[in-house]
Amino acid sequence: MHYYGTRNNDVTLAYALYKKIRGHLTHKTKAFFDDAYKYFKNDGKKLARSALIQQREFKGQHVTAINAYLKNDKNYLKARKILKNKKIPFIHANISELPKRVKQKVDFINLSNIPNWIIKNDLKIGNERIDNFYNQQLLPLHKLLKPKGIIFFYLYTTKMYYQKDYKKPKHKNNPPLLNHPKIRKQLLNKKEFTSKIIRFKGLCPGDDKIVCLQER
Ligand SMILES: C[S@@+](CC[C@H](N)C(=O)[O-])C[C@H]1O[C@@H](n2cnc3c(N)ncnc32)[C@H](O)[C@@H]1O
Repeated sequence: MHYYGTRNNDVTLAYALYKKIRGHLTHKTKAFFDDAYKYFKNDGKKLARSALIQQREFKGQHVTAINAYLKNDKNYLKARKILKNKKIPFIHANISELPKRVKQKVDFINLSNIPNWIIKNDLKIGNERIDNFYNQQLLPLHKLLKPKGIIFFYLYTTKMYYQKDYKKPKHKNNPPLLNHPKIRKQLLNKKEFTSKIIRFKGLCPGDDKIVCLQER
């Protein structure tokens, strides 16, 4: 397996490799990489570190720690085989539009850490934001679930918000509301769902969590 860099600090566009696969790419993809390479005066490192590619602040982590399917050829081929025969609909939308746009019922909804974003951006103050999130987002999504279907999302370890590497302005704030167990409870004791929290060791020290809400 070839990477165009395994950590943010050693990343580069592997131009020789790119040339080998270029013929199989769409016109749009070719135009993107060709123009970008030219723009950065054939400097693959500059291109790969630019905002066109690098948008995350996780420095120093190997790509395989974040993407298990890249760990070895076997994992990669397995992921490729699973995806090959699947037709995956892609809907680019705010999650609030999904109840209208998704036409079939589903077993799982993975909300990533979108709940933190929505709750943070709610102009209301205090715990009212949790109820808003529940009523305005989770209840409509609940209608998309098959019986016993699950909505889940992740919460990074609280420690992450105080780490040295994360001392950029946006991380100076307190951890998101849902990281507080008492506040989180407001979301967990509802009649529409049973809830479960799965804790695991993530990339940062401390415990990351997945919050699972299962349709009753
Ligand atoms: C931390 S990122 C998730 C990263 C992604 N799962 C990954 O592993 O690369 C959270 C994403 O949620 C998106 N987001 C925030 N509010 C949203 C909303 N209401 N609907 C859909 N996406 C939203 C943000 O734009 C952001 O890209």
